[in-house]
Amino acid sequence: MPLVDIEISNSDSILPDEIVAFLREADVRVSQYLQDSPRRATAFVPSQFKTVYHALHAIIDGNLASGNSLCEWGSGFGVVASLASMLEFIACGIEIEQDLVDESRRLAEDFGLPVEFVQGSFIPSGAEACAEEAYADNNSAYSWLITDADNGYEELQLDLDEFDVVFAYPWPGEDYLITSLFEKYAAEGALLLTYDYPETVYLRRKVSE
Ligand SMILES: C[S@@+](CC[C@H](N)C(=O)[O-])C[C@H]1O[C@@H](n2cnc3c(N)ncnc32)[C@H](O)[C@@H]1O
Repeated sequence: MPLVDIEISNSDSILPDEIVAFLREADVRVSQYLQDSPRRATAFVPSQFKTVYHALHAIIDGNLASGNSLCEWGSGFGVVASLASMLEFIACGIEIEQDLVDESRRLAEDFGLPVEFVQGSFIPSGAEACAEEAYADNNSAYSWLITDADNGYEELQLDLDEFDVVFAYPWPGEDYLITSLFEKYAAEGALLLTYDYPETVYLRRKVSE
């Protein structure tokens, strides 16, 4: 089933105080983590959280989602899922690296946010071949996306088609895989929000043919 683009306005409106405080702390922790990680030893690169926050806000303002459940694919520090929960989404994140899962849980807990983070892959069972194919078709020579790990949906006790919104920050060359997985496994009507460096977000909806 195809994805259609949805226009969202770029907003730079003033952030609420609680979001400012949360993002300040998130930035400190993320910077510390990156400083402590050996160069190129991690696949984690943070998105521009303010840009993504405004996009989530636009989804709410425009009543664009068919429900309020959101999953962050490759959640890193879980900042986007946490922001989503501050906007009343029921949010969760799936992250392959256990130390990042621990960091995301700590950050959310410290701000009293009810977000669930699980360790595992966001690639659904049975889709590993789809992932390998997408790489081959797309000639992606260099990639950080891990394609051979157990999926995280079991621990969440949710299937991919139960999410109304999925957020992902794909590495260059990985957008094709992210959209292929979403087209194949997400619910009809669900939204895919992706971030692209440095300040772009794309919103797409899965529709019937
Ligand atoms: C570019 S970072 C984005 C982090 C976060 N979503 C953000 O916007 O700040 C991508 C993350 O995906 C994780 N990752 C890579 N392959 C994964 C997989 N198959 N399942 C879950 N997480 C994965 C990496 O460890 C990394 O933390």
